[in-house]
Amino acid sequence: MSLEKAARAVRENAYVPYSKFKVGAAMLAPSGKIYSGCNVENVAYPEGTCAEAGAIAAMVAAGETEIIEAYVIADCEHPLPPCGGCRQKLAEFGKSHAKVTLATTDGATLETTVGELLPGAFGTGHMDRA
Ligand code: THU
Repeated sequence: MSLEKAARAVRENAYVPYSKFKVGAAMLAPSGKIYSGCNVENVAYPEGTCAEAGAIAAMVAAGETEIIEAYVIADCEHPLPPCGGCRQKLAEFGKSHAKVTLATTDGATLETTVGELLPGAFGTGHMDRA
């Protein structure tokens, strides 16, 4: 299955009673396996989780810790800009040059990278004096 297909399919399962805004995400790991996730909201709003977080959690739970490529899809006019927290999560597991495709369900896409999504990312090097 392609990253796009996986992200589109998992998006259908998004649990979004509050925003009604379904998001799907898929991550390609070094093994060649694809891990997918959708947003899961909660009546206590801050407890909701983003699609990217779900896909990354599935990848790590399966024993993989690198994102080779990511794909995020939602039904919006322009390809979805991942939220700030998700950019940091992508940067935790994806190298700066790792490709990220942002897509709309209508077929528009924007290709970017983990580094472009989070320039000046906080990383382990910033803790050298600790
Ligand atoms: N959402 C994601 O799943 N990923 C993002 O990068 C942006 C926002 C979800 C969270 C919430 O369920 C809904 O979209 C509206 O914010």
